[in-house]
Amino acid sequence: MLARAWGAVLSGVDAIPVRVEVDIGSGLPAFSIVGLPDSTIQEARDRVRGALTNSGEQYPMVRITANLAPSDLRKQGAGLDLVLALGIAVANEQAPPDGLTGRLFCGELGLAGDVRPVRGALQAAEAARSAGLKEIVCAPSNAREAALAGLPVLPVATLKDALDVVRDRVRLAPVVEDAEALLHTTVYSGPDLAQIRDQDHAKRAFEIAAAGGHNILLSGPPGSGKTLLARALPGILPPMTLTEALEVTRIHSAAGLLFPGESLIRTRPFRAPHHGTSASGMVGGGSGFTKPGEITLAHRGVLMMDEFPEFPRSVLESLRQPLEDGFVTVTRSRETKSYPARFMLVAAMNPCPCGHAGTERPCRCPPRTLEIYRQRLSGPLLDRIDMHVPVGRVETKRLLSETDGTRSAVVRERVERARTFGRGRHDTLGVTCNAEIPLGKLIELCALDEATAPILTRAANRYGLSARTVHRVLRLARTIADLDGAESISKAHLHESLTYRVVTKDADL
Ligand SMILES: Nc1ncnc2c1ncn2[C@@H]1O[C@H](COP(=O)(O)OP(=O)(O)OP(=O)(O)O)[C@@H](O)[C@H]1O
Ligand SMILES: [Mg+2]
Repeated sequence: MLARAWGAVLSGVDAIPVRVEVDIGSGLPAFSIVGLPDSTIQEARDRVRGALTNSGEQYPMVRITANLAPSDLRKQGAGLDLVLALGIAVANEQAPPDGLTGRLFCGELGLAGDVRPVRGALQAAEAARSAGLKEIVCAPSNAREAALAGLPVLPVATLKDALDVVRDRVRLAPVVEDAEALLHTTVYSGPDLAQIRDQDHAKRAFEIAAAGGHNILLSGPPGSGKTLLARALPGILPPMTLTEALEVTRIHSAAGLLFPGESLIRTRPFRAPHHGTSASGMVGGGSGFTKPGEITLAHRGVLMMDEFPEFPRSVLESLRQPLEDGFVTVTRSRETKSYPARFMLVAAMNPCPCGHAGTERPCRCPPRTLEIYRQRLSGPLLDRIDMHVPVGRVETKRLLSETDGTRSAVVRERVERARTFGRGRHDTLGVTCNAEIPLGKLIELCALDEATAPILTRAANRYGLSARTVHRVLRLARTIADLDGAESISKAHLHESLTYRVVTKDADL
């Protein structure tokens, strides 16, 4: 007999619904799986046999063929174990075919018949919804995550439980999740801006960066608070929308980074990869080719690159495309995948290897060392960072004083107000912040009046600013105007925006 059921496999960070057909025919005992399965799916044959026999079910000693459609798509992962085992039981007439109808099954099997969680349960459930299915059957620790797709989820801890569902012997209470309600229970646990003494210039820069989603490079001596400032950034960013939270959850689920039983990720990601991270760890790929990289894990959040010049050149250069486009394309011998990567880059560096160039302490670096250090950061990469912010040493007297700084919650309110001010502009373009305003709309949305435009022209000519820098200065100026609640960009807004790219005094321009 032939059995048909739905499963799903991951492809990058997306799930692809798979039609699983299991046929039992006469012939010598064998179990073959066709439809471009990888080695993990081939190994399912042994897990499925063990799980069926150890659950007290019969494993048919005949010729079993499983076909995975669409057959031209390479499939990987152990998530099809459950559906294959159920397919065999139905094809062998141990369970009725109706029990498979309208449901998507996802789960890995242990030899004892236990159903284990899979990566990408949320996107598998979303794929089921798009395919018009009615229910998801998966491991209990995947249930809350899968329920975010809006379909009822039946949690099964063992293959026996799953067979009971298919045989209609039990009615499980479906797990449902209210994603919108979850979103309002966000907690933030990082440092508060009020704990950071002085550094008003850097704090202002962070407020602007948060309001417009701009990239930022901090440069200053050791122990001046660069890492501390970067860690405080998520606390002043607006909470994620439901769409953003679902995007982030999908990515973390595909990477296997959700805790068992976790559902919606509500806090913006903060990733701080070490400078020893490889290029594939950074942008994604690797031999298995399914893992998203750090820049994708930082999607909709912050990518902190501490000790920026210490990252290998290949890693730094691999950031150029994603910083511009908001996604990364990784090509390996067999396939090409695109991963989302819209993150805020916070880079931090010392001014020189000893860390004291430009400070009151003498710099001990030989000129050649200094030159090599600075050359590590290419012009095109620096060009993509909107704000270059020097961070100075804090006076000890101030470190010992009571805190009097503005709290993160107050700054976040200002940031949210600025984003609300620009919302009409963003919504029509389908973007979330000023840093994402596309080139085609830039001149219209970041228009300068007759008195202001010549300032930018003079600055560009004097400092040799690239076209990209000019455009980034405009977006930044638009954000500063938004924080001010101003419809048009004034001279003061433009001047402030220029100070993050060139060393200038108002009177200069
Ligand atoms: N502005 C500040 N206010 C309060 N504490 C500070 C400040 N700056 C530095 N500190 C203290 O110094 C410690 C080190 O700061 P942080 O790690 O941010 O320095 P850094 O600039 O990143 O240094 P490095 O260049 O060595 O990485 C902090 O954990 C904190 O205790
Ligand atoms: Mg640091």
